[in-house]
Amino acid sequence: MEKSFSSKIGVLLAAAGSAVGLGSIWKFPYVVGENGGGAFIIVYIVCSLIFGLPLIMNEFLIGKLSGRSAYSAYREVSGTNRWQWMSWINLLCVLVIMSFYFVVTGWCVYYMVEAASNAFAGMDARALEAHFDAFEGRAPVMLVYAVIAIVMTASVLWFDVNKGIERLSKILMPLLFMILVLMAIHMAFLDGGSVGLRYLFAPDFSKITSKVILEAMGLSFFTLSVGMGILVTYGGYMPKDQNVTTTSAQMIVLVLIVSLLAGMIVFPAVFAYGFTPSQGPELTFVTLPAVFQHMFSPMLTCTVFFGLMCVAAITSTISLMEVMVAFVCDATAGTRHPLNRHQSVVVIAVIQIVTNALCILSMTGNADWLSVMGRNLFDFANILVTNILIPVGALGAALFTGWFVPKTRYQGSRVSSFLYLIVLRWLVPVAIGIIFLDSINVI
Ligand code: TRP
Repeated sequence: MEKSFSSKIGVLLAAAGSAVGLGSIWKFPYVVGENGGGAFIIVYIVCSLIFGLPLIMNEFLIGKLSGRSAYSAYREVSGTNRWQWMSWINLLCVLVIMSFYFVVTGWCVYYMVEAASNAFAGMDARALEAHFDAFEGRAPVMLVYAVIAIVMTASVLWFDVNKGIERLSKILMPLLFMILVLMAIHMAFLDGGSVGLRYLFAPDFSKITSKVILEAMGLSFFTLSVGMGILVTYGGYMPKDQNVTTTSAQMIVLVLIVSLLAGMIVFPAVFAYGFTPSQGPELTFVTLPAVFQHMFSPMLTCTVFFGLMCVAAITSTISLMEVMVAFVCDATAGTRHPLNRHQSVVVIAVIQIVTNALCILSMTGNADWLSVMGRNLFDFANILVTNILIPVGALGAALFTGWFVPKTRYQGSRVSSFLYLIVLRWLVPVAIGIIFLDSINVI
């Protein structure tokens, strides 16, 4: 990330580019499938529009006011140390996300390589599932690909070539978008695909419980990269005259469209080819190759698609790691062991190799002791982030602006508006509070 963005569109593309990632294409479909479809999506959209917008604006503004990373922004804006815990929650959240995000980025790289060697040719649904299961049982292979993803990301930061990657992604991300649109159209006309679309868009409200609402909210914030201090850092790089409201709204629309497109591709395929919606994290990886088998030049399209998915994933991992690097540099500055950028990159890469290895060992069944509350570490990390760390981060950020920061700090910006304060003061904290407490059975 540069110190400041030269153009307004630059901020949008950077924020949206990092936001649009595996969350929309991989996590969204499988979580929707686990939570029963249409009704869940409505809650997801409502959360994105009602809470997402003020929360994104809020984080951008905290960053814009302080010009700092998440480590010192809260202190800088409030003038006290009392909000330092927020920085640590944000850091922990990013750390845990990276512990499974690289695993899945590794899957994308592996699937690209497999597609290029035509490994999926002629495979039906059962065979594709078996293919993934076999892969999931091979911890060393999975680890190699996760390490490849980590090293690629770390190299970009080490050699400072983010600019080049950003320029590249400005061409490749729209290409990914176009392919998604074409695939969604293709799927809409598929025999048996309409059942999937009905599953996606016809709500069955009996499926809604407080846990489902919490999941939907967490997933919405995850795909928008809200509640983890990321956008605070982006806000710090914004040109002074950038319109925060417009940028935030555009970001939400982009993320929503990509997530829904992913759903419109995956679910018709689930029903047409005989997969199970609640299959879990492998859903995207088993259904998409099945879709490609029935499209123009399966090997080529499949390779290009997973290649572009790698780009989407890597632009996100670069931002995630960049935020951690900025944080570590900031936090160690002035201590007895200050770390410079290069040292921070190495430290974080090593930590990530360890945490990803633990997740992989745990999910491949190679280490049964590596489980928390009956779940493997990969699933546990996902749940921890979506259901606890992100809601707490978002709640904290709303309370911070709503109640703690003197209103005069926001003079001249939109935050001073009545509506914005009511939303951040009351609506967001009360709603998140109720959803949160209700789902852990406190109320
Ligand atoms: N929003 C990203 C996605 O949909 C995932 C993500 C969460 C992320 N937090 C982030 C990306 C921070 C970059 C930076 O895949």
